[in-house]
Amino acid sequence: MKTIKAAIIGYGGMGGWHADRIREMDKFELAGVWDIDPARLELAESRGIHAYGSLEELLADEEVELVTIATWNDVHKPLAIQAMRAGKNVISEKPVTMTSEDLDDMIAVAKETGKLFTVHQNRRWDDDYLTMKNVVDKNVLGKVFRIESRVQGSRGIPGDWRKEKGHGGGMVLDWGVHLLDQALTLCDDDKLESVWAHVTHITNDECAAI
Ligand SMILES: NC(=O)c1ccc[n+]([C@@H]2O[C@H](COP(=O)([O-])OP(=O)(O)OC[C@H]3O[C@@H](n4cnc5c(N)ncnc54)[C@H](O)[C@@H]3O)[C@@H](O)[C@H]2O)c1
Repeated sequence: MKTIKAAIIGYGGMGGWHADRIREMDKFELAGVWDIDPARLELAESRGIHAYGSLEELLADEEVELVTIATWNDVHKPLAIQAMRAGKNVISEKPVTMTSEDLDDMIAVAKETGKLFTVHQNRRWDDDYLTMKNVVDKNVLGKVFRIESRVQGSRGIPGDWRKEKGHGGGMVLDWGVHLLDQALTLCDDDKLESVWAHVTHITNDECAAI
């Protein structure tokens, strides 16, 4: 069976999770990682993971077929486009990017290059969501006219880049995209007609929380 070589851009918390998952799958091999933070590259090497010297070096590695992107949200778009243009298939972390227009540009490059481009919407496999999807799909409740979904926590948004608007911070782009994705895929036969939202914040000044 052919092994697919994958590389990760952004070796932070989630990039580490990507690395662990890639390394435990027989079909995949982790070629290495790239991060703008030298400390993260050192950490990768201490864990036996190859650290590329630059993004360009990673993208020039002809053995790498798949790139996963786990950086701050504001750079998913340029990195995904650069990787696809370098001939790589791409899985981006959520939120795929900051605006719908950005996503249109990314999809256009995927079509132009013929590369696979998708998003890690992992909460489509959560047990609570799958239970409700089963209930809706099997029409257990009759016609569903209202869905309530929430995430609760006690510490607010983490105090890192997630507090900064410029990096794509805030709860809407963090957890919100999971909840919206779940709501949309729960009623995927229905056409979305309008959206209304009231957003506010308590623990930070720059970014809204739902
Ligand atoms: N699917 C999920 O359940 C889930 C969970 C957590 C995080 N995420 C997503 O993963 C991404 C990363 O989140 P995190 O929690 O790992 O953040 P993090 O801060 O722990 O890691 C981000 C890393 O990206 C690096 N980075 C930033 N810009 C870069 C660039 N241009 N090139 C290379 N590296 C760069 C940073 O140095 C940092 O090490 C975010 O998009 C977040 O939304 C998804």
